[in-house]
Amino acid sequence: MTRTIHNLTINGDRLWQSLMDMAKIGATEKGGVCRLALTDEDKAGRDLFVQWCRDAGCSIRIDAMGNIFARREGRNPALPPVMTGSHLDSQPTGGRFDGVYGVLAGLEVIRALNDAGYETEAPVEVAVWTNEEGSRFAPAMISSGVFAKVFEPEYGLSRATLDGQTIAQELKRIGYDGPDHPTVDAHPVGAYFEAHIEQGPILEAEGKTIGVVTDAQGQRWYEITFTGQESHAGPTPMTRRRDALVGAARIVEAVNRIGHAHQPYACATVGLMQIHPNSRNVIPGQVFFTVDFRHPDDAVLARMDHDLRAACETVAQEVGLEMDFRQIWYYAPIRFEESCVAAVRAAVERNGYPARDMVSGAGHDACYLSKVVPTGMVFIPCIDGISHNEVEDATPEWVAAGGQVLLEAMLAKADALAPARTEAVPA
Ligand code: GLV
Ligand code: MN
Ligand code: MN
Repeated sequence: MTRTIHNLTINGDRLWQSLMDMAKIGATEKGGVCRLALTDEDKAGRDLFVQWCRDAGCSIRIDAMGNIFARREGRNPALPPVMTGSHLDSQPTGGRFDGVYGVLAGLEVIRALNDAGYETEAPVEVAVWTNEEGSRFAPAMISSGVFAKVFEPEYGLSRATLDGQTIAQELKRIGYDGPDHPTVDAHPVGAYFEAHIEQGPILEAEGKTIGVVTDAQGQRWYEITFTGQESHAGPTPMTRRRDALVGAARIVEAVNRIGHAHQPYACATVGLMQIHPNSRNVIPGQVFFTVDFRHPDDAVLARMDHDLRAACETVAQEVGLEMDFRQIWYYAPIRFEESCVAAVRAAVERNGYPARDMVSGAGHDACYLSKVVPTGMVFIPCIDGISHNEVEDATPEWVAAGGQVLLEAMLAKADALAPARTEAVPA
């Protein structure tokens, strides 16, 4: 039987089962996962992925940032691979789909090609990027950023947890400090696609199965420390206090106000705070906290930055605090590459999935890959739009549809350099 390449189909049941099997690693009581970057759970997830890829006939490379690349050879091994991937690390209260879906959808593409005995022209690779979440080590997307030469490898390897363990140390500890040079210079890529859950409510609310991702919003991350004076909660009159937590609380309010002031798209969050000495009868002398700003328009993101700086100056002065203010991460809004977006759109149309164009609210490794490689993304809905939460969920139908779109988009690119051809594949 002769079929075009697009008669290839992924096995949705197998993909779903792999997601559920991976979710056992770091499983939490509420049905989510906690697989923080470079912990023992992350290592176990990586080991399982590597085993599955070897079983699927892939070769494995690991670079100095601990990024894993599983490769299925093409008819022309000299061509740069068409790559997909995402991350296996999670938030502390993470779900079963964020990141891992993109990785295992990539593995399912390889398994489906194997089932059909289909040889792509260019090689196909699945990447696992180290520390996408930015939860244990800030900033996020650090290793795809190194790959895209946004960060120096030394900078990436020296990122540390709040108690001082570096990525270099933790990679070594779990045995994923690989030998390969960690940038695209040593690893040219023909095209990159990433499948991901939307992590917001739009697709489900509109009854769409696929988001064709055209853009991603920009981000700015800050680390701010207010220092006042710790003193006794009883004898210290209100008029003599320099309470660092009062300052931080006012900034929490200000951050929220800034978010509301730049609607419809702005997002503004204080997600981490450390109070010193954190004792109930001591006025807080020092507070460290973070701010996460996002907007699809760089000019608005800059105005939010300006508003935050102004609010911090004012509050520090009013409350009598010293301030250490650092913007630790910034990237401008991303536009994904036209031909990759078109490949995703074509796959959606071929399958008749209800779909719409989308701007990604979350950061993804694809955002950095897009700086050095033609890149596109595929979104599927998630239940109630909830993510970074243990209850994060998706349906097997959505999971399978996104996998099918990923397969077809990758095939379109993997065969693009070859003359059009049809393949004899088993019925
Ligand atoms: C990644 O998880 C992000 O914060 O967008
Ligand atoms: Mn993710
Ligand atoms: Mn995430």
